[in-house]
Amino acid sequence: MINANGKKIQIFDTTLRDGEQTIGVNFSIAQKIQIAQQLEKWGVDVIEAGFPVASPDDFKAVKAVAESVDRVCVTGLARAKQSDIDACVKATANAKHKQIHVFIGTSPIHRKDKLHMTKAANLAAINKWVRYARQFFDIVQFSPEDATRTEPDYLATVCNTAIEAGATVINIADTVGYTNPIEFGKLFDYLRAHVDKFDEVTFSVHCHDDLGMSVANAIAGVEHGASRIEGTVNGIGERAGNTALEEVAAAFMVRNDYYHYQTNINLKETKRTADMISEFTKMPIPHNKAVIGQNAFSHESGIHQDGMLKNRNTYEILTPESVGMGATHIILGKLSGSHAVMQELNHMGYEVTREDMVNIFPAFKAVADKQPIVNDHDLAMIMERMGVMVHA
Ligand code: KIV
Ligand code: ZN
Repeated sequence: MINANGKKIQIFDTTLRDGEQTIGVNFSIAQKIQIAQQLEKWGVDVIEAGFPVASPDDFKAVKAVAESVDRVCVTGLARAKQSDIDACVKATANAKHKQIHVFIGTSPIHRKDKLHMTKAANLAAINKWVRYARQFFDIVQFSPEDATRTEPDYLATVCNTAIEAGATVINIADTVGYTNPIEFGKLFDYLRAHVDKFDEVTFSVHCHDDLGMSVANAIAGVEHGASRIEGTVNGIGERAGNTALEEVAAAFMVRNDYYHYQTNINLKETKRTADMISEFTKMPIPHNKAVIGQNAFSHESGIHQDGMLKNRNTYEILTPESVGMGATHIILGKLSGSHAVMQELNHMGYEVTREDMVNIFPAFKAVADKQPIVNDHDLAMIMERMGVMVHA
């Protein structure tokens, strides 16, 4: 691991491009503008607004996003092809801050079966199209697609070629979510040793979640030399999705004692951002989703509730307020303890003591055994049956 004390990590959001590759997701241009403005508030550094050559609407969307944000850098995606690069040039022409993202497959399966290219032809294409793109952009990001299944020595040659041609950002793509944190760290160590200008350019990571390791892999890449993380809000994206950026940002905040990384993300805007993506994609946020799921700050078991009521740090490493989630919920159910039930009854206006709970708690348990959650209405019914009224 390299010393990364205080290192600034750039957050590159591809919700509007790789995120839109989620099955069934198609943002309107108006939605893309709204999302981009919210991403800017959230604090991302780069927004990949689309793939301008892909369709007239994608072109219009990238152009519209480029014209509706201020501080954030906007990029379009381009294959290593003149038509794609030209479309990006036009679509981002009015952006205050812009870059381009050029990619080509570099692994054996991509070279042989998809592109029908020799290594020499692959390198020639990288050299030609990165050089071409560099005429129009000060920041040229090059991605070796399927980098983690590319021969490491060839990947180093690819990076050297792209940097010599003018690439300023090299984005190591784990296109099919194939790597793991230890292996990805070693790949970065190898590249640091074999890419001549490793420290003169920005290394970035782009991880997919096919094996559920994209956040861990992205963070491993950063621990071994990358300083940009690509991902999406709520981890949406092709197949199992991309690195969930809210998880990365929360991990850096909570474990600042360990990582010492900084980002520009304003965590308090996280829930608002996540809800917007959930609404526009019509993909509900899973209840148990890290950081933003509704259960992430809910506690049901009696032991946990008792601990929380004494000191919330016992079972919460991240506060809901810090990610804009509102308050912690103590959910009453069959595993809840007397302390939590008494506290909720007192909140509701009943003046209940520990002695009263000797009679109330068995009545509560009898109800809780038959249903998943006991809400305030259920509690009021229990109290009514016991002849206790709320004190005025
Ligand atoms: O997953 C991938 O390889 C990509 C590239 C375009 C970076 O999305
Ligand atoms: Zn991707």
